[in-house]
Amino acid sequence: MVASMPNASTTSQPAQGVAVTVRGASRVFEGGVAALKDVDIAIPAGQFVAILGPSGCGKSTLLRLVAGLDRPQAGTVQVEDPRDADNAKRRGPIRDDIAYVFQDAHLLPWRNVLRNVALPLELKGVDRATRLAAAREAIETVGLTDAATRYPAQLSGGMRMRVSLARALVTRPRILLLDEPFAALDELTRQRLDEQLYGLWRRGGMTVLFVTHSLSEAAFLGQRAVVFSKRPARVAADIMIDLPLDRPADLRTERHFNELVLQLHRTLEREGG
Ligand SMILES: Nc1ncnc2c1ncn2[C@@H]1O[C@H](COP(=O)(O)OP(=O)(O)OP(=O)(O)O)[C@@H](O)[C@H]1O
Ligand SMILES: [Mg+2]
Repeated sequence: MVASMPNASTTSQPAQGVAVTVRGASRVFEGGVAALKDVDIAIPAGQFVAILGPSGCGKSTLLRLVAGLDRPQAGTVQVEDPRDADNAKRRGPIRDDIAYVFQDAHLLPWRNVLRNVALPLELKGVDRATRLAAAREAIETVGLTDAATRYPAQLSGGMRMRVSLARALVTRPRILLLDEPFAALDELTRQRLDEQLYGLWRRGGMTVLFVTHSLSEAAFLGQRAVVFSKRPARVAADIMIDLPLDRPADLRTERHFNELVLQLHRTLEREGG
């Protein structure tokens, strides 16, 4: 069951987003698999970008490059702090400011929700009282306060994903990378989580890269949708989602929303998705 929507009052200090600039990035894996070819994407600080593309085209590879978990053979991936661009360029990817949410929740089964969410701060050496307070706040943000002492096996799939989201938010990231986070969930749960995520982004101001195979999810969440071609991925289309900033659940029934979904569908079809 999906718990009630979180209230806005608990949200931490807005984490101002960071610009991400990918220029001419190519990535060929050993064995000759070319995943990315000459990818150019400039994402301004605080933008919510949905990333679409055929299966296996290189979307997760792009996220790994942005996270600094992998490097391109050609081109550059820059993560810049708009307030201190020179310094940020020198430092390269700012690992501590980036959070990554995978398709599976990846929770530790022997830790309860609170201690799973506190883990990133524990690994950073943050003292116990501070990390538990921050974890409680993140748990409240995703509407899971009542489940804080439960273990992963006692949660639904949607709740587990919200724990995963809270664990990503606990470090107050300035870039949030989400790789098909809600793909395994039923449609209604997914829509509720999309609405929660959208609210978190509105309040937090972080830059978001959201990989999905769902066109309506991309249109509902994104300010922009980047559509990749078949492997090796290059940017096939870069579509501004010109919907209002306020996105209530019933936006999905509106004509312009559905026109955008159709536009994404046609683009993806053309690209072999
Ligand atoms: N470490 C690796 N070594 C070799 N090949 C890899 C590696 N990682 C990814 N690939 C290959 O690179 C291509 C792109 O993979 P990637 O995971 O980025 O695709 P994707 O767009 O995220 O796909 P999906 O939509 O199925 O998640 C695939 O053909 C994949 O098999
Ligand atoms: Mg992937």
